[in-house]
Amino acid sequence: MDTIESTYQGNAPIVLPKGLTWPGDEMQIPDWIYTDPQVAALEQERIFLGRHWNFVGLECEVPNPNDYIRSFVGAIPVVVARDADGAIHVFENRCSHRGAEFCRSYRGNGERFVCPYHNWTFDNRGKLVAIPFRRGVRGKGGMPDGFDMGEHDLRTFHVTTHNGVIFATACSDMESVEDYLGPEVLREFNTIFPGAEMKLLGIHRNTLPGNWKLYQENLKDPYHATLLHTYLTTFGLFVTSNESNVVTDQQGRHCVLMSRRPQGRPEVAKEEQADMQAFRQTMQLKDQRVLDYFREVDSPWTGSAITIWPNLSALRQQNILNTRLIVPRGPNELMMIWAVFGRATDDEAMVRHRLRQNNIFGPAGFLGIEDNEALKFVQDGLTRSLPRHGLAMLGDDREPVDTIITERAIRGMYRYYRQVMGF
Ligand SMILES: [Fe+2]
Repeated sequence: MDTIESTYQGNAPIVLPKGLTWPGDEMQIPDWIYTDPQVAALEQERIFLGRHWNFVGLECEVPNPNDYIRSFVGAIPVVVARDADGAIHVFENRCSHRGAEFCRSYRGNGERFVCPYHNWTFDNRGKLVAIPFRRGVRGKGGMPDGFDMGEHDLRTFHVTTHNGVIFATACSDMESVEDYLGPEVLREFNTIFPGAEMKLLGIHRNTLPGNWKLYQENLKDPYHATLLHTYLTTFGLFVTSNESNVVTDQQGRHCVLMSRRPQGRPEVAKEEQADMQAFRQTMQLKDQRVLDYFREVDSPWTGSAITIWPNLSALRQQNILNTRLIVPRGPNELMMIWAVFGRATDDEAMVRHRLRQNNIFGPAGFLGIEDNEALKFVQDGLTRSLPRHGLAMLGDDREPVDTIITERAIRGMYRYYRQVMGF
């Protein structure tokens, strides 16, 4: 069976289009990494097909034998399928005949995938198993002699799982996903994914008019939380005085933002209010239950937002548990696939609570919607104005970081990005 092999050898010289140079260090981020189509194409090769683990879905999305979902590795459409024996396979959603994206259902159950165009048929390991009229009709037409079905399977990715989370890579000698995350990030990752059985509550999909890296940045950026999000500050989920921490892996590509909310509505000091336009002292909730927090993990933090390079965000905020899969679609658009989940042991009331609380996040959530809009504003600014560079100068790069007024994680990500991309 063909596997997709990483094309990136780590030594090919980069020739940037004329005039594109990185201006100094990571405190300055040039516009062209968000807008240039050549950069977007190179990212597919060096990042999504490179030496990285890509998130493709959760095991609770394919709980039964022969379940499948559509997903993505970078911009490449794939199918994540569990075979009859329980093993998980990830293969390209591209017919080996004429290239059709053959799997049309977002999710389903079946042992066979039949391409709608000419009915070429594949099993759920990606093997080509049937070609209509392969030998022609009445001795005429059909495939040439010597045609070998075994040479035309779907191309597959290497797959691994950790505590119910599925990752795929084109790289044949990747380190384990645990080593890939590193010990600090893994520790927090395991509070969201402790290995307990998960229950899928729902999926959101949305597209945004912005570059995919802006979403990685957004989730590595605690600074904006109290400035953009009225809901967070006013109802005390996240204010500057909450205890917080920012942890990254050795290479700076993954990040965890942790915070602890005090019980009840926090006092917000006058001096902080002056810097927080979004704070609304008089606003009240009609239904307070949306803020209830039932402690369910052994962690001092009530919230943790994790970004795993290149395409996963995992969130535990109050009793919300979700993953976000970031799908690049050219330089100016991204798609988000959100999986909202609970534990298999949740009773009916806990499921209701998680779903009620999910209104905070999600594509149109009380605060999720603000990030969507902010990303659009950034992309508009980057594409419509004269080229310049953005700034990420807040905070310093020393550990540990117990303030949210920092852009350290964004700088770390771009330090790594520049290495991988050769910029
Ligand atoms: Fe945000």
